[in-house]
Amino acid sequence: MTTDHEDGDINPFLPTVHPLKIFDAAKSQGRFLYACAPMVRYSKLAFRQTVYHYGTDLCWTPMVLAKEFNRNQVARDSDLTISSSGPQPHTIVQFGSNSPTELSHASSLAAPWVSGVDLNCGCPQSWACAETLGAALMEKRELVRDMVVETRSRLEADGWDVGKEKHVDSLKGRSVSVKIRVHKDLRKTMDFITTVIGNPHNRNVDWLTIHPRTRSTPSTSPINLEALSILTEKFGPQLPILVSGDVFTLATLPYTSHLLDSLPIFTSKAADTTPSTKPYIPKLAGLMSARALLANPALFAGHETCPWEAVDVFLNKVARAPLPLKLAVHHINEMCGPGYGPDKRALLSKKERMKLNECGSWIDVLDYLDEVRKEKDGGGNGMRRYA
Ligand SMILES: Cc1cc2nc3c(=O)[nH]c(=O)nc-3n(C[C@H](O)[C@H](O)[C@H](O)COP(=O)(O)O)c2cc1C
Repeated sequence: MTTDHEDGDINPFLPTVHPLKIFDAAKSQGRFLYACAPMVRYSKLAFRQTVYHYGTDLCWTPMVLAKEFNRNQVARDSDLTISSSGPQPHTIVQFGSNSPTELSHASSLAAPWVSGVDLNCGCPQSWACAETLGAALMEKRELVRDMVVETRSRLEADGWDVGKEKHVDSLKGRSVSVKIRVHKDLRKTMDFITTVIGNPHNRNVDWLTIHPRTRSTPSTSPINLEALSILTEKFGPQLPILVSGDVFTLATLPYTSHLLDSLPIFTSKAADTTPSTKPYIPKLAGLMSARALLANPALFAGHETCPWEAVDVFLNKVARAPLPLKLAVHHINEMCGPGYGPDKRALLSKKERMKLNECGSWIDVLDYLDEVRKEKDGGGNGMRRYA
């Protein structure tokens, strides 16, 4: 784990808010909980801080392999970075694991620094499935149950409060959750969730994130709304459910909910004003976004496209929580592209983004951005200082 704080100091930025309290707060504000998805390579500290700045409530780390994390200090330092001197987003560390011992041990190591731990049961990549990680776990419901049960008892033995609603006000409250895909035969998903939850009055997981695609559905196909509707109807009364998939803008979600009523009226021409034929999903608690947040970290603040200001916020965060240059440039490229909403206005043209990609140093990147923004501002207040 990387942090700039001395051992023994009392660090005011360590997590003290139970994630379920954040779910409650969103609900009492009459809105969905907003989450940044786990994204290998991308959902690192500077990016998490950027989306947090724009109202994202809970931020997932990229999937971290529990086995490596347990055995290797370098893996711990590079895979989990938290901020001890600035805004510390409410962070959920996601692990890839297929072993109760490995998951519970990794969770024990990470628990002081994060609000909760999550198990990836959705990664469809062949290398992961070959090692019974990610989506392969959707065929191993008892194993998943054993992993979350052992993790919960290990955290409890370490002194963390893992009693869910009972500990919602505890400063030492920690959550255990899972992120899943669905099966082609939805009855298998029902069995999976029922097994993993266990006793609904003392469930094994704090909440569930559902990515309503099967292991083999490409991300270009729309999410399975019928599956989402059925699963939230059945399990929503038992625990909070987040949906992951196709959260592109708040104005163009493919379903409706009373938790969208409190949103400001969107001014976009693209916003749907015709009577809705979309399914009403009343028992959904939150929205998790991956690709669209990458392209527009200000999505949950109601921006339909990425504002320049969000690029500035990201650059400021990256100055304090560095990323490799190529990775940071990729982020900027995503933010300056046409994004995932219906409004395809981009901050930079394709040609300008290609030029940005050619930058070989931070000085080149900042100079280039200053230059193009100056041109776009008509030579006005183009110069901006990042730091
Ligand atoms: C670049 C990238 C990396 C991802 N890495 C992870 C990961 O580490 N763990 C995980 O559970 N899902 C991962 N996913 C899946 C997303 O969390 C999410 O479930 C999926 O992209 C659907 O959401 P979207 O339509 O908002 O993109 C990743 C997706 C992308 C695009």
